[in-house]
Amino acid sequence: MHPTLAYIEDLARRAGEILRTGYGQQHQIEYKGEADLVTEVDRASEALILGEIMRHFPEHSIFSEESGERSGNAEHTWFVDPLDGTLNYAHGMRTFCISIAYEHRGQLQLAAVYDPMANELFSAERGQGAWLNGERIQVSNPPSLRESLLVTGFPYDVRTNPRNNFAEFERFSRLSQGVRRLGSAALDMCYVAAGRLDGYWQLKLSAWDLAAGALLVQEAGGVASGVLGQTEFLREQNGVLAAGPGVYAEMLGVLKEMAAG
Ligand code: IPD
Ligand code: CA
Ligand code: CA
Repeated sequence: MHPTLAYIEDLARRAGEILRTGYGQQHQIEYKGEADLVTEVDRASEALILGEIMRHFPEHSIFSEESGERSGNAEHTWFVDPLDGTLNYAHGMRTFCISIAYEHRGQLQLAAVYDPMANELFSAERGQGAWLNGERIQVSNPPSLRESLLVTGFPYDVRTNPRNNFAEFERFSRLSQGVRRLGSAALDMCYVAAGRLDGYWQLKLSAWDLAAGALLVQEAGGVASGVLGQTEFLREQNGVLAAGPGVYAEMLGVLKEMAAG
């Protein structure tokens, strides 16, 4: 049995209630790494989403950030980030969301990303388009990279990882109008899908961070790939590059040139 877009939109909204209720409260924080946190709200949101998926689709596989992989029928796979932007959330910053995607036979089919503080629900269905609160959205088409506003993110192990994105950040800061850093990979991609931002890259991401956002960008008329243009990027940790076609081509050229050294 297949889920519908309405089903996953509803799931994202219900999890959003949990995030909204917990926002600004005192949190129980556990550390997965020096700057990689998890709160009781991440876990409560995940429990709701996974409980519902397992109740309605008990045979499906699920990749979820806090509980890892739940293997089932690999033809039907879910990617769940119950709270994308935990560091923002734990500090009382309002930029965070829930990200849910459904894949059938290796192709992403459905995506829902919900920002409960802004009450913005971004959703997409393969071949049907992308929407923000039910209104169709489309990527931007600036004349060139020079006229574009970009967004990026950094890995949690930025203190020790030599692939820290600092050189790329500097380069794109010089080549564009500016580079934002919001702290939620899923919202970064939604804003590209909605044409608010013109391009996004990040060197390394997990499937639950990027699955929904990648489908949103593609269904909004943009391109999403690994940072060097890899078509296999969902599970391969090849990072992500997402933009409208013109800016995408220019950014890809820069990233390839930098990778070649
Ligand atoms: C993180 C955010 C952040 C990105 C990190 C992600 P989390 O997800 O999306 O913007 O830079 O790489 O891990 O841990 O808040 O779900
Ligand atoms: Ca995440
Ligand atoms: Ca998360």
